[in-house]
Amino acid sequence: MTEVRVCLPESNLEEPWTLAAYESTGGYQAWRKIITEQTPPEDIIENLKSSGLRGRGGAGFPTGLKLSFMPRNAPGQKYIVCNSDESEPGTFKDRDIIRLNPHQLIEGMAIAGYTIGATVGYNYIRGEYYEPWARFEAALTEAYEAGLLGHSLLNSDTSFDLYSQRGAGAYICGEETALLESLEGKKGQPRFKPPFPAQVGAFGRPTTINNTESLSSIPPIMRKGGKWFADLGVEKSGGTKVFSVSGHVNKPGNYEVPLGLPFKELLELAGGIRNGHQLKAVIPGGSSVPVMPAANIMACTMDYDSLQQAGSALGAGSVIIMDETTCMVKMLERISYFYYAESCGQCTPCREGTGWLYRVIHRIRNGQGKLTDLDLLVDMANRIEGRTICALGDAAAWPVQSFMKHYRHEFEAMIQSDKAA
Ligand SMILES: Cc1cc2nc3c(=O)[nH]c(=O)nc-3n(C[C@H](O)[C@H](O)[C@H](O)COP(=O)(O)O)c2cc1C
Repeated sequence: MTEVRVCLPESNLEEPWTLAAYESTGGYQAWRKIITEQTPPEDIIENLKSSGLRGRGGAGFPTGLKLSFMPRNAPGQKYIVCNSDESEPGTFKDRDIIRLNPHQLIEGMAIAGYTIGATVGYNYIRGEYYEPWARFEAALTEAYEAGLLGHSLLNSDTSFDLYSQRGAGAYICGEETALLESLEGKKGQPRFKPPFPAQVGAFGRPTTINNTESLSSIPPIMRKGGKWFADLGVEKSGGTKVFSVSGHVNKPGNYEVPLGLPFKELLELAGGIRNGHQLKAVIPGGSSVPVMPAANIMACTMDYDSLQQAGSALGAGSVIIMDETTCMVKMLERISYFYYAESCGQCTPCREGTGWLYRVIHRIRNGQGKLTDLDLLVDMANRIEGRTICALGDAAAWPVQSFMKHYRHEFEAMIQSDKAA
């Protein structure tokens, strides 16, 4: 299997981040057509629905349906916001989309803004992503100079202004309502829902928030049609997906492939397991999704349904590969520390529970564990899951539950060998 690039630019394109390069591949054709023909927003939404595009930020919610929730004819300002916070361990696809193909994201945001009746958009970019941010800014300047952003575009009544906003290094600001708080200049903490952002979003106005990859998929769908995109993938998982493959492979990196590709083929694309080792386990969607033993994932295709049926999730498509040299206790300790450090502290089960999870796993790894700690860990994770304002609590609980389900014996062995020593 070779890559099929929809969101990432073709690899033979020189300086793909420039306007000239983007336009040479059909870039901005869809936006120009929409402006000049004043395409009815309902038609755009229908096209997106037929494409099968689902949110690439983690939850997989259908993008066309989400855009349809906006009360576009309600009076007053509305906003489209792009979530480029990308902080989940293992995830690094949005960085490359912005860095290599910023104009496609700009075009996608403009089309999404038009569809929901928003004349202003913000791209919230992870603070550490300096180079992608600089490329995005340069692309914004080019797009304004070419008359593709701004007011009365192509002599029409359509206007669209787009700004970038840099984050300040908090994972929680990827949660869409914490992002909105941060965008407004406040401390990034998730909001209670309802009201949902489509009713009360940025600056109290109706807002739609989508991931970078979701929005970048829109221009090609508008140019080539929803059916073309849907046919690239499989049922209920239309199109391509950029998988960030990391860990014990020979060629870690971003690979854009059709959804539904057998995991084995993705592994081959990434050069296979390094140093002739064996595959032990995979976290297929970013550190929060349940871990899968090798035999389980080898039987899977990389799409929403297949991974869910196998007890995990596609998440953001961040595939963390572990070979047989991996200590699963150490791995879970590292993951748990991340969620402990990144909990915003607003909800008690998450603020306190993530610390408890980390400390119990840490003591197991330090030779002070007890066998009863294992049930304690599962019990604590179960008490965090579903009891917090946002899904960071779930993200901390799922790894613990799944590591205990599949690798409890490694934790037991470590505890028992420490006792014997
Ligand atoms: C703790 C936490 C962190 C998140 N981080 C991100 C992120 O970095 N990028 C992202 O697109 N979505 C992230 N999400 C999901 C967003 O809240 C939201 O669902 C997503 O941006 C919607 O876009 P989509 O429908 O295009 O996927 C996060 C969610 C949680 C609970």
